[in-house]
Amino acid sequence: MAYPQGFIQELKMRSPIQDVVGRYVELKRAGRNLVGRCPFHSEKTPSFTVFEDNYHCFGCSAGGDVITFVMQIENLDYRDAVNFLADRCAMTVPSDERRYANTQKPKLSRERAFSMNKAAARIFYENLVSGDGEEARNYLNSRKLSKSTITRFGIGYAKNDFYDLYNKLTALGYTKDEIKENFLCGISQKTGKPFDMFRNRVMFPIIDTSGNVIAFGGRVMDDSKPKYLNSSDTVVFSKGKSLFALNYAKNVLLGNIESSLVSQGEIILCEGYMDVISMHQAGFSNAVATLGTAITPEHARVVSRYAKRAYLAYDSDEAGKKAADKAMTLLNEVGVETKIIKIDGAKDPDEYIKKFGAQSFKKLLSGSVGQIDFKLNGILSKYNLSNPDEKLRAVDECCDVISTIYSEVKRDVYVQRLSQLTQIKTDSINARIAKGKKKAQRQENTARREDVRKRHCILMTE
Ligand code: UTP
Ligand code: MN
Repeated sequence: MAYPQGFIQELKMRSPIQDVVGRYVELKRAGRNLVGRCPFHSEKTPSFTVFEDNYHCFGCSAGGDVITFVMQIENLDYRDAVNFLADRCAMTVPSDERRYANTQKPKLSRERAFSMNKAAARIFYENLVSGDGEEARNYLNSRKLSKSTITRFGIGYAKNDFYDLYNKLTALGYTKDEIKENFLCGISQKTGKPFDMFRNRVMFPIIDTSGNVIAFGGRVMDDSKPKYLNSSDTVVFSKGKSLFALNYAKNVLLGNIESSLVSQGEIILCEGYMDVISMHQAGFSNAVATLGTAITPEHARVVSRYAKRAYLAYDSDEAGKKAADKAMTLLNEVGVETKIIKIDGAKDPDEYIKKFGAQSFKKLLSGSVGQIDFKLNGILSKYNLSNPDEKLRAVDECCDVISTIYSEVKRDVYVQRLSQLTQIKTDSINARIAKGKKKAQRQENTARREDVRKRHCILMTE
């Protein structure tokens, strides 16, 4: 990121952190600083502090300068955050040539990567509808994807050929280094020759919210391994931040398009490409998936920008339950309410929709349980409640869960639920919760004091 000296300095001078943060967070003055509720985790009391030229959250430890803030809140990489701020204060960003003046090897520019990916997507699509694409067309047919779904998602086919895409891309003027850097070819160690990364696979383009093709996922059509091959991270693709089909889902999430099956601000999170495509085909165009990776804190942050509530429609196996658990935690940290969908009678949402139809899936959505229910059910089913010792342990664990609920009314609802389920008086449950809360408060105070102390040390040494 070799920007000319002075450029970043001026950019920061023209982008006062208080103004930039103030567009996202309601800030109040506290002495020399400003404080507000942290936009990166959910909190009731403000611990997000803006200093003269940096910020720090004493709750979740997020922190940095104005560029870091834009990277975090807008989910951008460094270069795009710089562009974002430059647009805001009408500064011209030095051109690519100048930016790379001091680096030896010219890198693939984002613009070239986007146009190459677009060309590749077109080539894959043409392969699919060509004579060579019959097996792939039959495969998609067997997965019950309609013609319009195939075109909408731009699904294509990478031929069973080592050089098809490579030759077509070089004919369009892309160099070997560029194609390699964009994960569309590899270089044979034996011969030094380039070869196509994706071969004999059904291809799913991954598209960002601005409509650029940023990567591909390719599925084999038989049982060979790996089942899916995904692009590695490139100059335009970060696996840990991208969500498949968010480019379509964002329209319903933001209320730009109305849909009878979907409510604004509600997202469905699935595990796989095929789940998402099936859901969209059935009318649930608010479904997205992570790509060959578990959900990350960055994914959660992206979700929080589009949705208030997330339905977790993960596979019905153990791995799916674990993934749902992780997603729940990360989404709650950024203030997104979660509901867990229990897929019964099918291994995943794709199979469920094909077996039972969209209306049944809609019923699953309305019958889904919240995080507290999910956790309480999980705890109670783990123990044998007719054994007094086990029952005590179960109630203890349940109380820990209930004591995390902020709203008193909501807490009361769950206290009563737990009382019914265990036949223990609500008074005793409440007493146990009060005791647990005091302990948690003490722990939180100690942690906070420690953080303030550390922060003080950092400021002193800066
Ligand atoms: P699944 O194995 O559940 O596949 O992996 P699926 O989505 O149900 O696919 P179909 O229905 O068999 O076609 C879930 C997700 O995990 C990633 C992919 O993103 C996939 O959609 N994955 C899986 C990989 O990246 N590589 C693999 O080899 C397998
Ligand atoms: Mn699956």
